Order: sequence, then C-alpha cells, then structure tokens
Amino acid sequence: MILDDLGNPNEPPPRRDTSAYPVGSYTEWDPLEEVIVGIVDGAGFPTWHMSLPPVLPADQHDTFRSRAGRPFPPEQVEAARRELEQFVHILEAEGVTVRRPEPIPQQQTYRTLDWTSTGMYAAMPRDALLVVGDEIIECPMAWRSRYFETLAYRPLLKEYFHAGARWSAAPKPELKDEQYDQDWTDPGADGPTRLVVTEFEPTFDAADFTRCGRDIIAQTSNVTNTFGIEWLRRHLGDEYRIHVLEFKDAHPMHIDATLVPMAPGKLLIHPERVPEVPKLFKGWDVMAAPQPVIPDGHPLYMTSKWLNMNILMLDEERVIVERRDEPMITAMRRFGFTPIPCDFRNFNSFGGSFHCATLDVRRRGTLESYL
Ligand code: ARG
Repeated sequence: MILDDLGNPNEPPPRRDTSAYPVGSYTEWDPLEEVIVGIVDGAGFPTWHMSLPPVLPADQHDTFRSRAGRPFPPEQVEAARRELEQFVHILEAEGVTVRRPEPIPQQQTYRTLDWTSTGMYAAMPRDALLVVGDEIIECPMAWRSRYFETLAYRPLLKEYFHAGARWSAAPKPELKDEQYDQDWTDPGADGPTRLVVTEFEPTFDAADFTRCGRDIIAQTSNVTNTFGIEWLRRHLGDEYRIHVLEFKDAHPMHIDATLVPMAPGKLLIHPERVPEVPKLFKGWDVMAAPQPVIPDGHPLYMTSKWLNMNILMLDEERVIVERRDEPMITAMRRFGFTPIPCDFRNFNSFGGSFHCATLDVRRRGTLESYL
C-alpha cells in the first residue's frame, strides 16, 4: 500500500469514466446506455394546493379543483400508455436498456404531522431524481402531492446501490404552510416572476437542472428555491459548478422546455423565454425552437405547448422528437441532428415529453468541461 506524507493510504483517483458503474451520466448527450421511462399507472389529479396555480395553465385550475384526488380520464391514460410502449420499443431498438418504476397507489391519502395529500403519478422520473456522475439523488420536491413519488423507484434505486452506485436523498422538507408564499398573486404573463415557494427549507426538482459536464445550469422556479440549489452545490462539491440563470418566464417550473443543451456547442432555446443567449454559451451554435404545433383543443393539463423542445438525446446526433411535430423534425435536421420520431401527444397531456418522461441512468462518457 502506498502512503502519503501524513501516513494515510493514497486515495484512488476520483471516478471519471462511467462505464464501470451502474449509474453514471455527466451530460444530456453522451451515448445513452440505460434509461428509466416513467409509467402512467394510477395517474391522477393531485389534492388541490396553493402551489399548483402558479404553474398550471389558467384554463385548468377549475378541472384540478373539481377532480382533485381522482384519476385522470382512463382513455387518455390508456392512450399515453400505448405511446410509452412505442417509446420503449424505439429506445430498445436503438440499443438502450430500458427500466420502469413499480406502480404505487396514487389515490391513497397519506399524512405528515402537518398535512394530508394524495399522490399524482410516476410518469416523470426527470422531476424526482437527479443523476450527477455516479450518484443518484432523490429530490426534495415542493409539491405535497409528490412527497412520496420516489418510492416508485425504490426497487431500482436499491438495485443500483447494490451494484455500486452512490444513492442519496436531500433533506426531506416538511412542506409546512411557511414553505409557500401565502400572499402569492399571479403577476400575469408579462409581469415580474413571483415564486410561490419560500426559502423556509431546501426544495428542488431535478428538472430545474441541466447537465453539461462540470457545469450544471439551474433556475429557481415555483418548486426550486435558492436554499435547495445551495444544498445541491455543497453536496456536489468542487468538481461541479452550478450556474443559476434567469429567464423570461412568469410561471417557471423545469428548465427543459426553456434551455436545452443538445451536444457540445449546440444549444436549443425557447424564442421568448431566452431573449438573449447566456454568456456562458458564448461561441455555441444556437437554435430557437420553432413554434409548437399541438392543436388548441388538445388537453395539456400542466404545461404550455413548448413541450416540443423537451427532446431526448440518444447521443450527439440522434434525437427523439414528436412524430407530428414536422417543424421541429425539419429544424433538427437543419441543425445537424438525426431525428427519430415517436408518437407522444397523448403523453404530453400529463405534463411532459421525452426528456421529462425519462431519467438517463447511464451515458457512456467522462467528466469534461464544455463551457
Ligand atoms: N414548464 C414547462 C412549460 O410549461 C414544462 C416543463 C416540463 N418539464 C418537466 N420536466 N416536467 O413549458
């Protein structure tokens, strides 16, 4: 054994190459080897709470109030399930290992010392779990209806841990009333951003972060506070730099329909939310996303139509894009990518597209600086 000058055994060099580990991913574009794809089993409207209106489309508030704690329409869930199956087949045909969470009861009431709620779904692993390097982190989600969401992934988390992954969870927030700005009022689409989540305890969703090797881009949002970002910064340590960017978004929640790094030197941006390309990306090729084409009548319970930007990279070339989204398919080709179409509009109704619906567990790569 080699000892250093203090007599301690010399540490092995820090882990860099993901290939030796069950969990390992540094970017949004390294070659994808294993991915978790969400499920819509038991998906339902969550218990109504004041954290919802700041992000739900205005025309959905009444629906969420009146159907709180009840399942989403079964025919829509069924249609989304079929699209998920198609998505899984495409991923497998492209050589990716696909894993799924275990359904847990979503309409069962649970309680803490302070409040009760029902759950929502296990459809969006991107929101609940964050992979950075060889570590998988359970996020301190700000919605009471998402308090136990990671339980659906516990069989996978235990398996990854036994195989050598690092598994951690941020401090479980209490989500007391103090966690929410009780005086919150809507600033309006063009008003200044006013966040409903306070700095009472750390909260964040993984989807408010996007990974570019050593640099991780973050935003504060209606579910992610500065306290949460600071917790993550200290937890990850010096190997990573977290950059907090601000966008023109009156109702922010999740960065992956706003700023999407697609490959080294290639960035997709929302044409209005990102009026100016952040200095960090100086020298990158930037494409503004084309206008979305989801028809007005199509139900989108939780998001804007800009889910067209919520793509999944299989490597630096192949990108999964919604099949009927012709403008995006054309734009991707022009931007130098190989689009792979998949039907996903029915899934989109539940609040996300390909990036939200997945968690890249392993991408072959090493820790690099790209910015
Ligand atoms: N807030 C975004 C919008 O309405 C959608 C982001 C969805 N992302 C996710 N990871 N669930 O345009």
